[in-house]
Amino acid sequence: MSPFDPMESLASMRHEFGEHGGVNMSIETSTTFTVLDAEVMPEIFSGQRSPEQGGCYLYGRHFNPTVYVLGRELAALEGAEAGYATASGMGAVMGSVLQHCTHGDHIVASKTLYGGTFALLKEFLPKRCGIRTTFVDVGDLEEVSSAIEERTRVLYLESVANPTLTVADIPALANVAHDRGIQLVVDNTFSPLILSPILLGADVVVHSLTKFINGASDLIGGAICGRKSFITELMDLHEGCLMLLGPTMDPKRAFEVSMRIPHLGLRIKEHSRRALVFAERLSELGLDVTYPGLVDHPQHELMSRLMNREYGFGGLLCLDVHEAAKADALMETLQNRDRFGYMAVSLGYHHTLISRPAASTSSELTEEEQRAAGIPPGLIRISVGYTGSMEQRWQQLEDALRVTGLIA
Ligand SMILES: Cc1ncc(COP(=O)(O)O)c(C=O)c1O
Repeated sequence: MSPFDPMESLASMRHEFGEHGGVNMSIETSTTFTVLDAEVMPEIFSGQRSPEQGGCYLYGRHFNPTVYVLGRELAALEGAEAGYATASGMGAVMGSVLQHCTHGDHIVASKTLYGGTFALLKEFLPKRCGIRTTFVDVGDLEEVSSAIEERTRVLYLESVANPTLTVADIPALANVAHDRGIQLVVDNTFSPLILSPILLGADVVVHSLTKFINGASDLIGGAICGRKSFITELMDLHEGCLMLLGPTMDPKRAFEVSMRIPHLGLRIKEHSRRALVFAERLSELGLDVTYPGLVDHPQHELMSRLMNREYGFGGLLCLDVHEAAKADALMETLQNRDRFGYMAVSLGYHHTLISRPAASTSSELTEEEQRAAGIPPGLIRISVGYTGSMEQRWQQLEDALRVTGLIA
């Protein structure tokens, strides 16, 4: 069990008060910053004078004080030296890989990834940037190792994979990557607070803040955490992916996300508590359920060893009803008859969200790639919310299973 508690780490960082002593930080909306002496301007642009060195912020697409505070909060949660927020999770994924690679370089990635990331690596990067990816089973260290080539720069994976909930052995994978001189980049969107990839050996962590961290399904955002030198490199005026491609976060959005972080711990615990109870009951009913908190999950022991226990095994569970039509009927009943949740993609919302990955967030994968990734057509992904009472929600779920003939 890890002694690290991300919420304690957050509570230990310096609090940012508002301009007039407000308990909340002020929002710095300015896109540009005033210098008093003209000679300071070139020094700011050449990187010699940061705000801490008597200079000032440079421009809103570069570091912004409000976005910077959110970055510090996320870094504290991840146990990282530094962090910065992006306009979307995909902005973070893109920056985290592209910053490490140039034309002709190579990436080794898990074959089970969020569909957008899969498409970025499989289609976009080779065609537009000449950067190839080999997809592997990251549970097979031999396969990972033998896929690494001379020009490989990055090993990319999700700590808990979307949507299969396969848990990566981050310490072992970090060893493989570092032995071969490459960077381990981990998407921790499914398990914020629960897993701390950087403390387990990863070099970079990315998040879609759109999910659990924001928690209200009302804004799109992302983040990159890692070494201070890497975050600075992302903002380099000549070669920084975030600075030049432009997916930095707006300060007003950063403020909104920052206001939801203090209750992230409470939310994650409740998502996890309910998901575990539902998973156990579905399993007792003889259904084909996947949840890392169940002892029969293939990586249950691994996750128990790696996780920050306080926060449970996460808010996502999968139910395989073995046929797409049955899955669709169940989802419709859950939403339209029983009001258990909403048929929608995304996750980490306070209400329950239900989707069929094969037809949605993994549809970028061909049928064969879905099979290889472990995504059957009848798989339903449930992001368990915390609205209503748990027993009320369980009755709704049980009713829908009965009405659709999945249980007697
Ligand atoms: C694991 C994972 N990473 C990244 C993303 C992309 O995030 P965003 O939609 O915020 O760009 C998603 C989106 O679903 C995701 O599930």
